Amino acid sequence: MAYNLLKGKRGIIFGALDENSIAWKVAIKAKEEGGEFVLSNSPIALRKKDIFELGKKTNSQIIAADVTEISELEDLFDESIKILGGKLDFILHSVGMSPNVRKDIPYSELNYDYLMKTLDVSAISLHKILSVALKMDAINEWGSVVTLSYIASQRVFSSYSDMSHAKAMLESIVKQFGYHYGVRKKVRINAVSQSPTRTTAGAGVSGFNAFYNYADAMSPLGNADSNSCANVCIFLFSDLSKQITMQTVYNDGGFSSMGISNKLIQQYIDGDCKE
Ligand code: NAI
Repeated sequence: MAYNLLKGKRGIIFGALDENSIAWKVAIKAKEEGGEFVLSNSPIALRKKDIFELGKKTNSQIIAADVTEISELEDLFDESIKILGGKLDFILHSVGMSPNVRKDIPYSELNYDYLMKTLDVSAISLHKILSVALKMDAINEWGSVVTLSYIASQRVFSSYSDMSHAKAMLESIVKQFGYHYGVRKKVRINAVSQSPTRTTAGAGVSGFNAFYNYADAMSPLGNADSNSCANVCIFLFSDLSKQITMQTVYNDGGFSSMGISNKLIQQYIDGDCKE
């Protein structure tokens, strides 16, 4: 069911790689809710071509931009405002990548050049997007920017490696920039901390199935899927959440408040009995 929550609103959605991507689901719902937007991804990601199908489905144009390159972001904002016919009301930053995780490098032996890349792509890119947008005055008052985080920003998930540093930094940028953009232009910035979700980036984390199954067994509501994440993003883009800013909103079925669940207690009791 659609409620026209984004009617008359314009945006940019970063990070739809294929139909499993969280950004893909957000784009579909943003369209259903009456929003108009430009889709963006890195030049390499566009080679996968799936995004063009999403472009057709949502009647949106696609513009390549590497989120770490300021000049590409400036061109993207410039072109998007022209295409959409006015300044922006919402931005989704759904971007993450760690060469250390991809190459399965042990945490205690991180490659520091890769670490810089992880931070640049997965966290500093949000700062770059916001900084370019503020300089260009590209976002309307009460506009809303949403990024995607994971609870490994706050707690140890042993194989999440340097992505945990990226997520901690990302959530910190949400707060710091949320203040600066808020006082100057009344623009809101929030993160959604999402349950483990089967996507290209998610499945790249070693032991992903364990993350997924453990969180599902721990959470009273079970894992939150990507469609429910998209719903939260739409709410945060909409005027319904006008006074919410600088927050990390947990879309995780209750996982972040848990210590242990009966399901897991049972599993470990059974485990003890077997030994
Ligand atoms: P995904 O792999 O579909 O999306 C990641 C996107 O980042 C891809 O579209 C990729 O092309 C883009 N990207 C990477 N480097 C880029 C660059 N230099 N410039 C522009 N775009 C670039 O995976 P997913 O899961 O949809 O990831 C979206 C966000 O959600 C990420 O921030 C991820 O960390 C976060 N997240 C994912 C969870 C999961 O379990 N899948 C859980 C919690 C958060």
